[in-house]
Amino acid sequence: MLIDSHCHLDRLVDNDQPGALQPVLDAAKARGVEKFLCVSVSEKGYERMKNLAMPHPEVVISCGVHPLDIKDGFDPAWLAREAADEKVVAIGETGLDYYYSQDNVKDQQAAFSNHIELANRLNKPVIIHTRDAREDTLGIWRESQGNAGVLHCFTESWEMARDALDLGLYISISGIVTFRNAEALRDVVRKVPMDRLLVETDSPYLAPVPYRGKTNQPAYVHEVAQFVADLKQVRYEELLNQTAENFFRLFPAAR
Ligand code: NI
Repeated sequence: MLIDSHCHLDRLVDNDQPGALQPVLDAAKARGVEKFLCVSVSEKGYERMKNLAMPHPEVVISCGVHPLDIKDGFDPAWLAREAADEKVVAIGETGLDYYYSQDNVKDQQAAFSNHIELANRLNKPVIIHTRDAREDTLGIWRESQGNAGVLHCFTESWEMARDALDLGLYISISGIVTFRNAEALRDVVRKVPMDRLLVETDSPYLAPVPYRGKTNQPAYVHEVAQFVADLKQVRYEELLNQTAENFFRLFPAAR
């Protein structure tokens, strides 16, 4: 089964009507995509995202506030309330981004810890965004005794991947892997064990080759999966079976 393990469907449509996502989902289904994990980034956008996802049983959602969105406010009580809903299969995306934001590092760290602790209480996995914050990301994960999670849209070094794998984390690969200058990332993908890999689009961002520069969409997870299958030197079907098995092991409530 082909799954887009990380997309922002609400950012792909302007209108708020129930069914607004249908054309996006149809385009993806035409390429074989059967399941979508629609990932929350802010409290402000959450209600709309949830409402858009609601009519579609093949779309599951997460709840959380992205490290670059906590400047607009982060309310742990709100998160705890919303995240407890059974439609919410994961907590996030949360994490640390020191590349784009260094002036609120302490706030990012506090919010990340809060997400992890809540995930532990609710027994839900965590979707982690990390950029230029390798040591602190894994340090806080250890301190907060993170249980299950994924480093999404992975672009870091093999050393970080290896340490994350040792902590039981999964590694999710986006269309960045198809970019010409991503040789280091391709090396990481070759080394990550098959049973710890996921594929994603992170749409509407980061469209894979040959759509680079265009608006990304879940349909293009096909290109990511094909590219990763080639790197791993396995058949496309095998890659789909293995990444789907991994996805449901990590996100059991998404079944
Ligand atoms: Ni994302």
